[in-house]
Amino acid sequence: MTDRFLRACRREEVDATPVWFMRQAGRYMPEYRALRARHGFLEICFEPELAAEATLQPIRVFDLDAAILFSDILVPLVSMGIDLEFSESEGPVIRNPIASEADISALRRIDPREELGGVMAALGLVKRELASKAALIGFAGAPFTLASYIIEGGSSRNFLKTKRLMYGESRLWHALLGKISDMVADYLIAQADAGADVVQVFDSWAGCLGPEDYREYVLPHSKPIFEALKSRGIPSIHFAADSSTLLSAMRDAGGDVIGFDWRSDLAEAWEKVGFDRAVQGNLDPAALFAPRGQIERRVKAILGKAAGRNGHIFNLGHGILPDTPVENVSALVEMVHEYSRRR
Ligand code: CP3
Repeated sequence: MTDRFLRACRREEVDATPVWFMRQAGRYMPEYRALRARHGFLEICFEPELAAEATLQPIRVFDLDAAILFSDILVPLVSMGIDLEFSESEGPVIRNPIASEADISALRRIDPREELGGVMAALGLVKRELASKAALIGFAGAPFTLASYIIEGGSSRNFLKTKRLMYGESRLWHALLGKISDMVADYLIAQADAGADVVQVFDSWAGCLGPEDYREYVLPHSKPIFEALKSRGIPSIHFAADSSTLLSAMRDAGGDVIGFDWRSDLAEAWEKVGFDRAVQGNLDPAALFAPRGQIERRVKAILGKAAGRNGHIFNLGHGILPDTPVENVSALVEMVHEYSRRR
């Protein structure tokens, strides 16, 4: 239900805890695999009808309270001049990674309404189809996480190139993150205008930093995004994985809702973030491979940690995994609604 999710973002009373999943459209669903057999991943992202179809697939199968636009955090980088490909074996590959001041200057400043018109059209199509069935979430990568891809040229383990630029050439670092931050703010505002009810900022890899480095190198570029959203009344969710030591800094950067990964205890994490924020999380995605009784026990434990407080959105602690059994996803959604039903 649209209303249940939006009310939770605003920390208002709900009839039951809303639930959605990061990466809820994807390879664990046979419907998605069928779509991917016919179309490339980036083709689906750029073609409005296909992106809308992928967005809606999980909504037709599960009783979810929100849909998330089908796209990728790396999609807007293509418009900025990044040469991106998704390989079946390696995931994202960038053929022209950023290494110099000239590379940073060459990144194009974009008008997302024009250059990412396909994304905006997909949001419009989904919004029309959803009506009041579920809320619609738009999203973008956070400056740190996007910078890590364009510096490393793909996924990374130690983020060594990223940290070398950050520590060694901080003027260039701040120039690059500032440029990305401006793009992300414009892009998210455009998504809200095109139909997104709420937007999520994924700082997936910020957890590779200590809190001091996060405050010095990342927060100054994430904060203006949340301020721009807030001043326009656009509700926002701020998520990072492996974030238990970053939570108070993430709160200071902004977000009406702070997302937790499963390594945090939800009750302790909420206290750290402050009860003036809503929270999202935080079942271990691997728990969906456990026997039903185990899933049930863990759902009850998370709802217990939230303690019926207004402002909890149930989610996984990170994206749903490719081989997740579909029937466990259905069961999980039912359990969250049933065990959290307010009487
Ligand atoms: O959540 C959703 O259902 C919406 C769609 C969505 C995708 N990617 C689809 C996708 C969202 C919100 C993302 C965000 C994203 N993309 C993040 C942040 C979230 C997170 O997981 O931390 C990151 C880091 C990426 C970058 C990315 N995209 C990687 C590393 C990969 C390869 C790994 C993988 O899972 O295949 C992708 C590809 C990707 N993005 C797929 C999907 C459905 C798989 C592509 C396929 O169909 O083969």
